[in-house]
Amino acid sequence: MALHIACFVGARPNFMKVAPLLRLLRQDRQFAPSFVHTGQHYDFQMSEVFLHDLGLPAPDALFEVGSGTHAAQTARVMSATEHYFNRFRPDWAVVVGDVNSTLGVALTAARMGIAVAHVEAGLRSGDRAMPEEINRIATDHLSRLLFLPSADAGENLEREGVDRSRMRLVGNVMVDSLFLVLPRARKAEVWARYQLAPKHYCVVTAHRPENVDNRLHLRRLTDILAQVAARLPAVLPLHPRTRQRLEQARALAALQEVPGLHLTEPLGYLDFLGLVDGAAVALTDSGGLQEETTALGIPCLTLRENTERPITVTVGTNTLTGLDPLAVSACLDQVLAGTYKVGAIPPLWDGKAAERIVRAFTE
Ligand code: UD1
Repeated sequence: MALHIACFVGARPNFMKVAPLLRLLRQDRQFAPSFVHTGQHYDFQMSEVFLHDLGLPAPDALFEVGSGTHAAQTARVMSATEHYFNRFRPDWAVVVGDVNSTLGVALTAARMGIAVAHVEAGLRSGDRAMPEEINRIATDHLSRLLFLPSADAGENLEREGVDRSRMRLVGNVMVDSLFLVLPRARKAEVWARYQLAPKHYCVVTAHRPENVDNRLHLRRLTDILAQVAARLPAVLPLHPRTRQRLEQARALAALQEVPGLHLTEPLGYLDFLGLVDGAAVALTDSGGLQEETTALGIPCLTLRENTERPITVTVGTNTLTGLDPLAVSACLDQVLAGTYKVGAIPPLWDGKAAERIVRAFTE
């Protein structure tokens, strides 16, 4: 009998991690995969466009859990997942990343005796104020198989007493998607839509609660954006949370007037990757973008005090600047002078992580 592997997605950063895995599972008769979307993200630009850009099929099940407090959202994911498992009872539940859906599915599966596999396991920022850190820790400890993107993740897990026999060092599955889509993304020349010249602009993303929910930090962020845009044109696709917070702080109109700063709607995977690939530098508080810029060799200034992806700093192109305008400005000096550090691509970020994951299910 083919192994039923249920692959779950919920929020924007999940799609590019599941796509390469699902593609391989669907090609192999040993597996009967299913594809389940919790509906944590639901806007076209936060969800459906990614299915399209990544060649993902329509989900076999869509829960429509939507937005809410952490408790309400996780509870809705759990309740819908329980219902799904009662009907279909897969052999494995595969969860990716660190969003509320990841934890909700893992917790439900573990309680129902369904084996959990966590892709992107072992990452730690050490900052439990971030909901994602709690999601990572809990999901890892509920999982039977832990797929590590880099060796440091294994060390984190060992420190927490997790047995090595549950871990598989497979590399970064997001890079599989990136390599696959990059030629198409480059062809689109997305920068031209904003009248920009390649390698002469900056891409910005910001949506972390600590940066946008806190008024003081939001102010610091917008000041930094104005400071950067005065030196280098910048594009900022606005995450819905960030748009809401800027509107509530009555700061959106002023930001729209900042010279050199282009505000856009959230972009799809292809467009965003093309924009990042053409950029001179990225400013971000996203986890995924820290990795994508390292894979592409593009300087990345991370507007956070810590990262769960330290390899992007030690090996890659990332620098943690926090919301410190002087640190941002010093890095920007180096980028513009061509003296910013040149990173390397971490081991096993080679586009073959999904192959290694699939192999692990039959070993
Ligand atoms: C979630 C993840 C975060 C990830 C981010 C990527 C958690 C705890 N957080 O944060 O790790 O980096 O996704 O985007 O799981 N909204 C829309 N349309 C949508 C989705 C959300 O308008 O399709 C709005 C809603 O008002 C919602 C808010 O954005 O309340 C935040 O959405 P939510 O899923 O709660 O968290 P994110 O900030 O997106």
